[in-house]
Amino acid sequence: MRTEIVRGPEGIEQAAHWIRQGWPVAFPTETVYGLGANAFDETAVARIFAAKGRPADNPLIVHVLGADDPAWSRLVAEPVPKEAVALWERFWPGPLTLILPARPEVPALVRAGLETVAVRAPSHPVARALIAAAGVPLAAPSANRSGRPSPTTAEHVYEDLAGRIPVIIDGGPTEAGVESTVVDVTRRPFLLLRPGATPREAIEAVVGPLGQPDAASSRRSPGTRHRHYAPRAPVSWLAEDDLPAIQAWLTQAGWSGRWGLLAPEAVVRAISAPVAFSLGADPWEAARRLYAGLRELDRAGVERILVVWSQRQGVGEAVANRLAKATGEGESAATVAPLFLLFVCSGNTCRSPMAEALWNRLQGPLRAQSAGVAAVEGLPAAAEAVRAVAPWGADLSRHRSRPLEAVEGTPLWVLTMTRAQAEAVRRRRPEWADRVRLLTEMVGEDREVADPIGQGQAAYDILATQLVGWLERLRAQLVPAAEGKTEP
Ligand code: TXA
Ligand code: MG
Repeated sequence: MRTEIVRGPEGIEQAAHWIRQGWPVAFPTETVYGLGANAFDETAVARIFAAKGRPADNPLIVHVLGADDPAWSRLVAEPVPKEAVALWERFWPGPLTLILPARPEVPALVRAGLETVAVRAPSHPVARALIAAAGVPLAAPSANRSGRPSPTTAEHVYEDLAGRIPVIIDGGPTEAGVESTVVDVTRRPFLLLRPGATPREAIEAVVGPLGQPDAASSRRSPGTRHRHYAPRAPVSWLAEDDLPAIQAWLTQAGWSGRWGLLAPEAVVRAISAPVAFSLGADPWEAARRLYAGLRELDRAGVERILVVWSQRQGVGEAVANRLAKATGEGESAATVAPLFLLFVCSGNTCRSPMAEALWNRLQGPLRAQSAGVAAVEGLPAAAEAVRAVAPWGADLSRHRSRPLEAVEGTPLWVLTMTRAQAEAVRRRRPEWADRVRLLTEMVGEDREVADPIGQGQAAYDILATQLVGWLERLRAQLVPAAEGKTEP
């Protein structure tokens, strides 16, 4: 798929057309660029996850025109706490996201299975025109590859998602530069889940002190656990901007070679660094320049980055929060939950490992795993299965079977061979109930995939050929086809 960069009313119309076709498009908001798709179209939402490689347990924000949007009654369940009304009356349209009780018809993928939905009304005229033209609410995360700094220009989006999405609407650099503030109004006191472009102090002036998320609520906003906003170069963060302290830190660290400094203007002037990017003179400017700075230093080829930032007032709290996430805050990149499909059969020695291996021979951000509802731990794949997938370039020789209970993380979809297996998954992993599908159902066929065991090599060879066909169709639904094939 060729990714087009478009502008103006015609560009918005073109993007709205793609949304109606079920594809995600990138668009500017007042905070960062978003990657939006019809929130009520599950396949379109799955395509957002596939394009970003976003962990499937991280829910999305639904973008509407306001609390009077015609879609509101399909999104938000009553009763809504009345202080929440005060918040949207004061801050919408604008960079505030509210966690509200969800209507059951909001697709489980949007909510990551939670009983709440995140809603915001952006103020950017292009975002509003797009929502209006598409005629549907837009589920939209930031338009970066998962884990990377959020995009504040159309070029940043292109850098991360070229070839994976049809259109980017270029609306110039975004104004705030950091994401919306996320407040959970389903709990008392209201919880600040993510500091952002609407300062905490402004919100507290309306509804009183906000609570801090504890371990339980961070489970409720699962995406906030993963490493985020990270450039390629490792980031160190020094939370003070007193010059002698910075000098002392540098002497002690003994950095040499090509390192980069991202700091307030006054610090950039005083400290000599091989490469430097200024965060400007005040917190709003720092917020606006933060992600561009991280990407710029990567582009300059630095080996590591020192960020100097000490303020925690106003939007400074959001800058500090993003820096904590970018440095990993005790998590290594390896703990970032990857996006994956889970194929399931009975013993996890033939059908599901064949599907897994045949899927994984294709490149892309969406990987596959497999498991069995009646699997014994640690058995190799059947010899016939190993032989059947080999001509397709797939290797099953190191596969070891595992039961459903051994799977960690949240799959995008759980794809079973039979209806009985689907039932067994729903029973044993109820948290995945909304994600379970019959594999063939996903590609418009409605039949079970029979167990080839005991039927000789030919049965396995036929199964491999069938699986290749189904998986290619499934992939074409989720991942854009090669250049030029899916123009409108
Ligand atoms: O400014 C923004 O909010 C941007 C622009 C595009 O609107 N969007 C954005 O989306 O930052 P994203 O997906 O990068 O961040 C969404 C945040 C995540 O931390 C997610 O966990 C949280 O909102 N979230 C979404 N739904 C939630 C829910 N039902 N409960 C708790 N947290 C939720
Ligand atoms: Mg994001």
